[in-house]
Amino acid sequence: MEKPRAVLFDAYGTLFDVYSVGLLAEQLFPGQGSRLAQVWRDKQIEYTRLVTTSNHGAHYQPFWALTEQSLRYAIKLVEPQARTDWPAYEARAQQLMNQYRHLSAFPENREVLQALKARGLATGILSNGDPQMLGIAVRSAGLDGLLDHVISADPVRRFKTHPEAYALGEKATGLKASQIVFVSSNAWDALAATWYGYRTLWVNRQNLPFEELGTQPTRTATNLREVLEML
Ligand code: LAC
Repeated sequence: MEKPRAVLFDAYGTLFDVYSVGLLAEQLFPGQGSRLAQVWRDKQIEYTRLVTTSNHGAHYQPFWALTEQSLRYAIKLVEPQARTDWPAYEARAQQLMNQYRHLSAFPENREVLQALKARGLATGILSNGDPQMLGIAVRSAGLDGLLDHVISADPVRRFKTHPEAYALGEKATGLKASQIVFVSSNAWDALAATWYGYRTLWVNRQNLPFEELGTQPTRTATNLREVLEML
């Protein structure tokens, strides 16, 4: 097998820690924070699939807009009153969106990215996030300078797991998928990237089972450091 020449990371939950969003959700909606955060995340991903697979992509919207709309759904689910009195919930929704904009990075990121660069590998993000939100996240997490590529699915208007979104990683690096390690903490993303042809590391931070669809990621770990053992 050829040696990997680049490592691309998923953004939300993989490089950027979304935990703080759950904490704030609990402060704003006592007793419902973890449910709200979970529904929000699931609905956000569901919406990316809905707009990618329906009506030839005619209903595409950038990830930030889908994130905002999925939050509205999640709030209306846990707080039925929000369905008829949304203005009373608007400020809390804005607070959560602000928190989402300025996420912190997982503590091991910096040293892992530095080690990858020291070994001469290209590094990058390959995310459904739109360019503006990724730019802000990279800067606020202090990761600028450690990433050679910040690749957004937005230009092709198709979200992962569409192959055109994964193809952007090959295009940006000039490498074949088999020369690239793709790292994600989302099992569905690690699975689809494996199907696409990437070497994959699933970072199972939450001790979940992997997807039951017959394919395993190249490797599984509990934090990003293990990517160094795949080189
Ligand atoms: C991303 C989401 C799926 O960054 O985590 O693409």
